Amino acid sequence: MSIRIHIGGRLYPPEQAAVPVLDRGFLFGDSVYETVGTNRGRLVFLEDHLHRLARSAERLYLRLPPRDEVERAVRETMAAAGNPESRVRIIVTRGDASVDLDPAAAGDPRLVVIAQPLGEPPPELYETGVEVEIVSVTRNLPRAIDPAVKSGNYLNNVLAMGEARRRSPSVHEAILCTANGSVAEGATSNVFAVVAGQLRTPAVEVGILDGVTRGKVLQLARTNGISCQEALFMSPDDFRRADEAFLTSSVRSVLPVTRVDGLALGDGKPGALTRRLMGLYRQMVEAQT
Ligand SMILES: Cc1ncc(COP(=O)(O)O)c(C=O)c1O
Repeated sequence: MSIRIHIGGRLYPPEQAAVPVLDRGFLFGDSVYETVGTNRGRLVFLEDHLHRLARSAERLYLRLPPRDEVERAVRETMAAAGNPESRVRIIVTRGDASVDLDPAAAGDPRLVVIAQPLGEPPPELYETGVEVEIVSVTRNLPRAIDPAVKSGNYLNNVLAMGEARRRSPSVHEAILCTANGSVAEGATSNVFAVVAGQLRTPAVEVGILDGVTRGKVLQLARTNGISCQEALFMSPDDFRRADEAFLTSSVRSVLPVTRVDGLALGDGKPGALTRRLMGLYRQMVEAQT
């Protein structure tokens, strides 16, 4: 199990990998990124992730290196790390700053790729489900830092996770609400709930990241006759009183939630619809890789 990092066309072990302190990613969080997992050693939904990386960069007027350069760096880094299953983080910063914030003052974009062991949650968490806390830190307003852009500026989510862990050290994820009080998403995941028999997830318009896994689960629901409402508002109480809930992310796939704010959700076990979607998603990943 090892970690390898690709910077400026060269590969390094973590203790030797460094970017200049004037890099705008370090100074301002002025960067975009993606996290991609593997299944049987093959990258899962890479195309979707590269597409979102391009969309994020476009929204920030940040220039990306050519796509073949990014893909080559990803493959070389994974091969050098040599893990059976990998978590690959692709980061592009706006390059080095002179002295001011003006993005026009930036140098060339800097590509960094980190390949490390996948580190997915242990299998028992998929049996027991996880605990989440709905925190008071609100999700960024779309007109401030749009959550739909996967940028390196994660302070909002870092503070949310800190609050959740202070409340309950065993918590798995922090759930953030929007400024107008709707459940939005997890610090690094999207959320789904089954409320009164209906599968629901916050709509992208609420101000969330349109997760790749979320998109695949919506597609699976559609093709398997499971109706899913993309809700423009989901109150924290709707979420707490849901019969079932789950998180989605590239590293977690579909992960059941069985405790919210210290109380059991539904009957305290992963629900039937959650289990069905976990299976369907697993099949979809297997078919793709
Ligand atoms: C804020 C946020 N929401 C949702 C997700 C899940 O997105 P994906 O399914 O594309 O991994 C992530 C993943 O890191 C995230 O950081």
